[in-house]
Amino acid sequence: MAAGIGSDQGSLRPSHALGEDDDRPGEGRPVGLSVLLSGTGRTLENLLRVIARGELDARVDVVVSSVAEARGLEVAARAGIPHHTIRRRDFADDVAYGAAIYDALAPYEPDLILLAGFLRRLVVPPAWEGRILNIHPALLPESGAAGRGFYGERVHAAILASGATTSGATVHVVDNGYDTGPVVLRAEVPVLPGDTPATLGTRVFAAECALYPEAIRRYVAAHPELFGVRMRDGR
Ligand code: GRF
Repeated sequence: MAAGIGSDQGSLRPSHALGEDDDRPGEGRPVGLSVLLSGTGRTLENLLRVIARGELDARVDVVVSSVAEARGLEVAARAGIPHHTIRRRDFADDVAYGAAIYDALAPYEPDLILLAGFLRRLVVPPAWEGRILNIHPALLPESGAAGRGFYGERVHAAILASGATTSGATVHVVDNGYDTGPVVLRAEVPVLPGDTPATLGTRVFAAECALYPEAIRRYVAAHPELFGVRMRDGR
């Protein structure tokens, strides 16, 4: 796995008040995750499997879908996770849409919001800066297969058309651009002769299954300023 952790996050502000009683997710308690999706929910399924195996100290508290028929909602229901549909078309603009999503998540007090195949723009207000991650099925930034309209097999078709011999996946912090936020971690896979978008996509997704949990672990551990710190010894 090619690692890219350590992007400059210096401008991020703490969103939890620090004090004697603070405990850190991943150390004192599971990381509270809220998952946003629009489709099949394979990423959610993988996270739930990894958590169940004890390989990620986290909990998925709520799932929000932008699509009422998304299979990801069935995955949430089967796992007994509260789930909601919030459709973009029911709101006047992206800001109002984002506000509705944050309102729905607020009761669950998420440590991290994870985009897991979420195909709508999520405006990031200051309070959530640095606390939303996305996974993209290509190497960012250099692949160029990113931005509006680049999702699913379109990404892999673009990689094949470019003649690249390596592809992969990228976990990045979500900012107010499309697929532009600081990279947390990447995984590389080879592009093989005879690959189709589907075969490359299968190989990339297999890499994503290890990448996203590892990126979450590392990101939470690397950013005590975002997730609260234990105040000991007068610190
Ligand atoms: C993955 O390829 C991921 O990189 C992208 O969405 C795909 C997963 O969608 N963001 P899903 O979990 O199968 O719905």
